[in-house]
Amino acid sequence: MRNLSPPATTPTAAHSGPPAAGSAGAPRINKWLAGVAAVVVLSGLLFGYDQGVISGALNGIQRDFRPGTLVIEIITSWVTLGALVGALIAGGVADRLGRRRTIVWAAVLFALGAAVEAFAPGTGILIIGRLLVGFGVGVASVAAPLYAAEMAPTRLRGTFVSVYQLAITIGIFAAYLVDQLLAAGDWWRLMLGLSVVPAILLVIAMLPLPDSAVWYLKVGQRDRAAKALRDVRPGEDVAADMKDIEASLGSRQTSWGEVFSPTWRAPLTLGIVLAVLQQFTGINAVIYYGDKIFAAAGFTTAQAQTSASTWSIGAVNVLFTFVAVAFVDRLGRRPLLLAGLVGMGLSLLTIGFCFRRLGDVTIHSDATSNAPNDAGVIMLVAMVIFIASFAFSLGPVVWTVINEIFPSTVRGRAVAVATAANWGAAWVVTQFFLTLTDTLGEAGTFWLFAGMCVVAFLFVWFFLPETKGKSLTEIQQMWVDRNEASAGASAT
Ligand code: BGC
Repeated sequence: MRNLSPPATTPTAAHSGPPAAGSAGAPRINKWLAGVAAVVVLSGLLFGYDQGVISGALNGIQRDFRPGTLVIEIITSWVTLGALVGALIAGGVADRLGRRRTIVWAAVLFALGAAVEAFAPGTGILIIGRLLVGFGVGVASVAAPLYAAEMAPTRLRGTFVSVYQLAITIGIFAAYLVDQLLAAGDWWRLMLGLSVVPAILLVIAMLPLPDSAVWYLKVGQRDRAAKALRDVRPGEDVAADMKDIEASLGSRQTSWGEVFSPTWRAPLTLGIVLAVLQQFTGINAVIYYGDKIFAAAGFTTAQAQTSASTWSIGAVNVLFTFVAVAFVDRLGRRPLLLAGLVGMGLSLLTIGFCFRRLGDVTIHSDATSNAPNDAGVIMLVAMVIFIASFAFSLGPVVWTVINEIFPSTVRGRAVAVATAANWGAAWVVTQFFLTLTDTLGEAGTFWLFAGMCVVAFLFVWFFLPETKGKSLTEIQQMWVDRNEASAGASAT
C-alpha cells in the first residue's frame, strides 16, 4: 500500500481548486513564467513549421534534384520517423540530463538539421538533414510540454500546455504563408532553412531559466528546487510544494520496468490510446489533402486552392485553439474533448457524403476543372467545422492530458512513449491515406475517420478522469487510490 502525500499536506492550499472569489485570483505571470511560456511557444513553432513547410518546398526540390517517387516519399515522411526515435530517446534523456538541457540539445540538433537541409548538395544529404530535424522535433515534443506541465502553477497547467498546441498551429500557419511567399522564386532552401531562427531563439530563451523543481528533487538538488519553485510560483507555499513533490517521487529509481508496471497501466493506456486516436481521426489527412478538397469545392487554380487552405485550415486552426487555451482550465478536459469529437465526427460524416455526391471527384483526380457546386461548398464548410472542432479539443487537450496523467517517477519516459505513439500513428496515416482511399473510396475513408471519433468519444466518456484543478501529485494519488480500490474489490 502506498500513500504519496502525507495527510498534513494533502491537499495543500497551493494545490487545491480555484481561488476563492476576490482572493489573489489567477497566479501572476512573472518573468520566469513568461520565460517558460516562451520556451513552450518556440518549441511548438518548431514542431508546426516543420509539419507544414515541406509541401511548399517539394516543387523546388523536384526541379533541382529530380528524385523518384520513393525518394520524394522519404524526404516527406522521414521527419516523422526521426521524430518517433527522438521522442522515444527523449524520455530517458530528460530524466538523466534534466528537462532544460534536453531542450537545449534538441534545439541545437534541430538548427544543425535545418542548416544541412538548406545547404544540401543532393538528396542523400537532404535526407540526413530531414532525419536530424525530425529527431530534434521529436525530442523537443517530449521535453518542452513536460517542462511546461512541471513548471506551471496547477491552475495554469492546462493553459500552458495548450499554448504549446497554439504555437504548433501558428507554426503550421506560418509555414503555409512562407511557402506562398517564396513559391514564386521556388526558394525551397530558404523555406527549410528559416526554421533555424526559432531554434536559435529557443536556445537563447532556455539558457537563463532553471530546470523544473521535480527534476531537481529527483536528482537530490533541494536548494535549486526550492529556488525554482519560489521563482515560478510566487505566493505559493514552497515548503508544502516540495514535500508534495518529494512524496510523489518516492525513493525508487526510475526504470523502463516501472513505466510498464501494472500500477501505472491505466494512465499509460490512456496516454497511448489518446495519442493514437488524435491521429486516427484524420487531422493530418485533412491538413495534407486540403488543397484537393478545395479543388472539389470549385477553387479552380492551384494558387486559389493554396490560399484557401492557408486561411480556412491554417487560420481556423490557430483561431479555435484559443478557445481551448481560454477554457481548458475552466471547463475541464472532458467537456472540450467530448464536444470537439461530436463536431469532428459529424463533419467527417458530411465530408464522406459529399464525396459520394460528387461521384467522379477523387483525392487522386485532377479536380481543378470542377465548377463550383453545392456538394463541394458543403464539403468546404464541413472541413472548416472539422478543423475548428479538432483545434479546441483533441489538438491541445491530448497534449495536456499526456503531460499531466503520469506519476513523477516515470513521467519523462511515459510521456515519451505516448508521444512516440503519436508520431508513429501520424506516420501511418500520412503514409497510407492514399492507399486507404484506393481501397475504401474517399467516402469510406472519411467515414472510417468518423468511426474513430465514435471510438474516441466512448473512450473519453468511460475512461478519462477529469484532471482540471488537480495538482500533479493529486493526479498521481488518484491512480494509487484506484489501484487500491480495485485490489480491495477483487479481494472480497
Ligand atoms: C498534432 C499534429 C497536427 C496538429 C494540427 C497536433 O496536436 O499532434 O499531428 O498536425 O495538431 O494542428
